[in-house]
Amino acid sequence: MAETSQQHAIDTMFLEERTYPPPEDFAAGANAQAGIYDIPFEQFWEQEGRERITWFEPFTDLYEWEPPYAKWYLGGKLNVCFNCVDRHVEAGDGGVVAYHWEGEPEGDARAITYADLQQDVVRFANALKKLGVQKGTPVGIYMGMVPELPVAMLACTRLGAPHTVVFGGFSADSLSGRMNDMKCEVLITQDEAWRRGSKVGLKKIADEAMADAPGVQSCVVLRRTGSDTPMQEGRDHWWHDLVGDVSDDPQSCPCEPMDSEDLLFLMYTSGTTAKPKGIIHTTAGYLVGTSTTHNYIFDLKQDEDVYWCAADIGWITGHSYIVYGPLCNRTTSVLYEGTPDFPDKDRWWSIVEKYKVTILYTAPTAIRSHMKWGPEYAQQHDLSSLRLLGSVGEPINPEAWIWYREHIGSDRTPIVDTWWQTETGMVLITPLPGVTTLKPGSATQPFPGVVPAVYDEQGNEVGPGGGGYLVLKRPWPAMLRGIFGDDQRYRDTYWSKYEDIYLAGDGARIDQDGDYWLLGRIDDVMNVSGHRISTIEVESALVDHQEVAEAAVCSRADSVTGEAIVAYVTLKGGGEGSIEKLEELRNHVSQKIGPIAKPANIVFTPELPKTRSGKIMRRLLRDVANDRKLGDTTTLADPTVVDEIAKRASDEKAQEAEA
Ligand code: WTA
Repeated sequence: MAETSQQHAIDTMFLEERTYPPPEDFAAGANAQAGIYDIPFEQFWEQEGRERITWFEPFTDLYEWEPPYAKWYLGGKLNVCFNCVDRHVEAGDGGVVAYHWEGEPEGDARAITYADLQQDVVRFANALKKLGVQKGTPVGIYMGMVPELPVAMLACTRLGAPHTVVFGGFSADSLSGRMNDMKCEVLITQDEAWRRGSKVGLKKIADEAMADAPGVQSCVVLRRTGSDTPMQEGRDHWWHDLVGDVSDDPQSCPCEPMDSEDLLFLMYTSGTTAKPKGIIHTTAGYLVGTSTTHNYIFDLKQDEDVYWCAADIGWITGHSYIVYGPLCNRTTSVLYEGTPDFPDKDRWWSIVEKYKVTILYTAPTAIRSHMKWGPEYAQQHDLSSLRLLGSVGEPINPEAWIWYREHIGSDRTPIVDTWWQTETGMVLITPLPGVTTLKPGSATQPFPGVVPAVYDEQGNEVGPGGGGYLVLKRPWPAMLRGIFGDDQRYRDTYWSKYEDIYLAGDGARIDQDGDYWLLGRIDDVMNVSGHRISTIEVESALVDHQEVAEAAVCSRADSVTGEAIVAYVTLKGGGEGSIEKLEELRNHVSQKIGPIAKPANIVFTPELPKTRSGKIMRRLLRDVANDRKLGDTTTLADPTVVDEIAKRASDEKAQEAEA
């Protein structure tokens, strides 16, 4: 057990010692070889910028850093759609499949080549022009995972119109808030979306949102399910009507030359309480950053790989690693519309088998769901095409990592655990699969040229083994350029704790080998008898128990220890807990990391409260544990989950009182 001490910003105790060097054959053919780390930072990004992107006019300066604002590839002119679509067709690769689209209803599938994509994008861009969209017109997009979603995004970039994509699970309020903040003039949506076999009325929600967002003058509606959909005369237009009489000739709608630093899109991140922040991403740095990382981290082989990022395009992961990075690299991707458990829990694995997916990128929350359901669903399918797995979105518990590797990766595939944020735009801490020795639960090394560090309260670097605040000391191409319309909040949130240093808001530690271990959001750190304990370490100790699928921990006030740890645990196969199981789990944590981390209480629950992007919401669990009124629950994917947990927790208290 590692020592703990009170001066650390976060004490770390959980030790994971398994290691996995890269398989030899993988290493031999990998896009990234060890020498990549030796290339000087400026040379690296200069070269990637020149070679990976087709410029209308070359850039003159690599970057400019006037903290807290960076600019990249200054003086360059380019177009994102041209780089993601047109140039591949011009190079003779129009017949290559860009997306194997798999609809949620079985049998509903389409292969979309780069030539198809170009025709669709040109037609839709011409349609948008009819509605007055031009360079600089802000456009909102509220759709499910249909091929027309990337088409809409690319059409905007073709015209130079910045977009904001709002995840299809958001409410009318969230949608109107974003439309108003960005001052969107056009909203693109669809009649309904498929979700776990039922239809979600996106247009109906969009109608409610538009009632509160009077700046939206036109609404384009894609017909997906074909249900009756009221259309408002003058404002609403069917997608198929608009594209009916326009040209699909690329010459009819040339790609607008954009400055490197022109706004590409806003992506709103929902803070837990305050108003969502419109994170600004611009054109060149974002495209170079996402395509470069996509190439090296996923070891993308253009003519061999079938790549599947199973995120939703409505999140940054989908923007960077379903749409812009992969298309820029002329990737063949899978795009799946639905949920992993429809019509049954083997749907993902049937997709992997059907398209012979070679690279799969998903989130710990999904992996833990599959763990909960059991490996038998994966075993029904041939997953031998897979050669690389990826994880993003939360720290991955070592046992979930091992499960992923064994049951999905046949105990053979490397796993890249990629740390990044909406704000960073691209992956910043990650293994390179042909180079890095993997450790389950560690995101390992900074991507070439990235300089993170772990700081204590005062801004001193914390030595190996100690926990602290993750910071970034040097700008990177895809970094955020600010918060839309709120310079002060940008400075306060990311740049005020340490001077000219980016505060990520995550805890981390660096081990003796220089590998990074992410410890979760700093707001979630618990203080037990003066020890600052990260939630992820206790959760990972719980998930280490063979019967546990998922765990979330938080603290409640305690008169003796200051704070005491409360754990919420989901058992594999959905089993119910018992007093004996509770004791067993407490002891398991004690053995794994020490008595100080032993949960004071454990509540067994079939589900945990999560955000719509699958992150555990510990803040609400904290409210339950402290018998407080629940805070804002609007960011929850399923609000009933936390009520159920509150009920279980209070039943348990009643039982304790009786006993
Ligand atoms: C967390 C998602 C540990 C982290 C791309 C970060 C991770 C937040 C990892 C950003 C990882 C993401 N290991 N934690 N590999 N990846 N996170 O903006 O807390 O949705 O700050 O971007 O997710 O979430 P966001």
